[in-house]
Amino acid sequence: MKPQLVLGIESSCDETGIGLVCTQRGLLAHRLFSQIDLHAAYGGVVPELASRDHVRRIVPLIRETMQAGGCTLQELDAIGYTTGPGLAGALLVGAAVGESLALALNIPAIPIHHLEGHLLSPMLSVTPPAFPFVALLVSGGHTQLMRVGAVGDYELLGESVDDAAGEAFDKTAKLLGLPYPGGPILSKLAGQGVAGKFKLPRPMLHSGDLMFSFSGLKTAVLTATKKPDFSAEQIPDLAAEFQEAVVDVLCAKARAALLQTGLSQLVVAGGVGANTRLRERLTKEISKRGGNVFFPELEYCSDNGAMIAFACAMRVQAGKAVPSVEGAFAIRPR
Ligand code: KG4
Ligand code: ZN
Repeated sequence: MKPQLVLGIESSCDETGIGLVCTQRGLLAHRLFSQIDLHAAYGGVVPELASRDHVRRIVPLIRETMQAGGCTLQELDAIGYTTGPGLAGALLVGAAVGESLALALNIPAIPIHHLEGHLLSPMLSVTPPAFPFVALLVSGGHTQLMRVGAVGDYELLGESVDDAAGEAFDKTAKLLGLPYPGGPILSKLAGQGVAGKFKLPRPMLHSGDLMFSFSGLKTAVLTATKKPDFSAEQIPDLAAEFQEAVVDVLCAKARAALLQTGLSQLVVAGGVGANTRLRERLTKEISKRGGNVFFPELEYCSDNGAMIAFACAMRVQAGKAVPSVEGAFAIRPR
């Protein structure tokens, strides 16, 4: 197959991301516009505002990306866009632009599952992992362990029964009175505190399976703040203990997943993959047991267009590009 040039569009939440990938030359360019400032005043993402801003940003970002990659739209072979999960209105902007552009250029439009983008994003690194590997997907909406055999070969090993890890970070940050976006701010504060001064549970640590639960942890934090002797100076210590509890569970279950599958490579993806403490602990614990951990570059941890273009290019290359919305959900457990 001759090298294919693929444009990727990400608009599932509050980031407009565009990526340009060549199946032979790799990532040529990508651009990102984050709406954090737009939503900060509301303490969270306002779906209606998110959709409208995607409309404003998406075409200029496509132009910029094409220019930065030194290519013209007419050279494109396929367009991948995030089809879900995400905010309906926001997703529709990317889908409408992707499908229309593909129609005008007479090339396929390929819906890409958002989590597949995250899952394959560590392969954008200079030293990418090789199949097969275990993926720990930790984002704002999902906490999942998957066995990844090849592009499109994903087996769900375990997931959260309630809140996702990122969601727990965000909700806990909110109840501690921290500004949006809570996760990274809470994690920064945790760096100034000492874990162990408070005692929080490690939910489902000994459940004997690869399932997670994080909603009780958030409630335990709330209970700690309600104690009469609790003061604002203790917030960094409480944040540190919260982070350690999440990291303890994620590390233990990731190790168990490697053991269960007999694999030695762990790939971490999604926004929480940017967490410094998680990176430190996983690197130490997995390498001690002879395994390897791969993290996406920080810029590819949170939502971005490069990962969607890359996932789409890998599907095109593997002959698994299905130009239908149903096809995108091939990521579902087997
Ligand atoms: O993958 P992502 O950008 O979006 C989703 O697909 O959900 O993940 C966003 C999540 C948010 O919950 C955010 O608080 C969390 O990732 N996050 C972090 C850190 N950076 C982002 N959580 C903990 N520590 C961080 N450094
Ligand atoms: Zn995401």
